[in-house]
Amino acid sequence: MSILKDMVFAILHPFLKLYIRIRFGSFWVLKEHLKRHPSKLLDLAYQHHFMAMDSYVGINSTLATVPYFPHRCQGVYIADTAVLGKNVIIFQQVTIGGNALIGSKGQGHPVIGDEVYIGAGAKIIGGVTIGDHCRIGANAVVYQDMPPHSVAVCSPTRIIQKENLDNTFYTIIDGQYYATRDGKLVPVDPPQM
Ligand SMILES: CC(C)(COP(=O)(O)OP(=O)(O)OC[C@H]1O[C@@H](n2cnc3c(N)ncnc32)[C@H](O)[C@@H]1OP(=O)(O)O)[C@@H](O)C(=O)NCCC(=O)NCCS
Repeated sequence: MSILKDMVFAILHPFLKLYIRIRFGSFWVLKEHLKRHPSKLLDLAYQHHFMAMDSYVGINSTLATVPYFPHRCQGVYIADTAVLGKNVIIFQQVTIGGNALIGSKGQGHPVIGDEVYIGAGAKIIGGVTIGDHCRIGANAVVYQDMPPHSVAVCSPTRIIQKENLDNTFYTIIDGQYYATRDGKLVPVDPPQM
């Protein structure tokens, strides 16, 4: 049954996309429409649109304005319960997620202010409030409130000086060693360990 559904959806999908573009102009407008007028078919098309970019934007999330994604909405997760202010910038691989664990200190969902800048790979988790104009550094994990105009960064990366590092990537296929050269695997002698 689900294969049949998938097939029907695959056939309908291009027409649905065209219909959404003509009727709503964008998937962001469709999102707001779906909040008030749930529709299984349009919901499926909406989810599919973001899934194609490995992303999820909860229909019930509150967005004061459409966020700006400098590198497209790639690998972005915005929880159904999240609240975002105006002109939020979101780089790729960002999670804005709730914490529903019973008894957890961090229960709740993020509330993000206006003009917040969220760097690549950042995670904002649970019941935190991020003030207006905050900056969140690449890969930072934010689980505490941030006052307006503050910056969150994760612990600094350690730079360790070494000598003669060889980063050749070896793999064994049917007993033969291979190494990567110019983006291809080429047969090589077993490396000296
Ligand atoms: C944090 C960030 C927003 C810069 O904000 P800022 O207000 O200009 O901060 P500063 O550059 O003054 O840096 C403050 C401190 O955080 C450190 N820092 C900066 N970015 C950091 C990061 N991502 N992770 C850890 N530490 C970081 C700086 O080294 C500096 O440390 P110091 O005070 O010990 O010298 C920026 O560095 C960042 O991470 N931007 C994300 C951009 C991005 O994702 N680009 C993707 C393009 S594809």
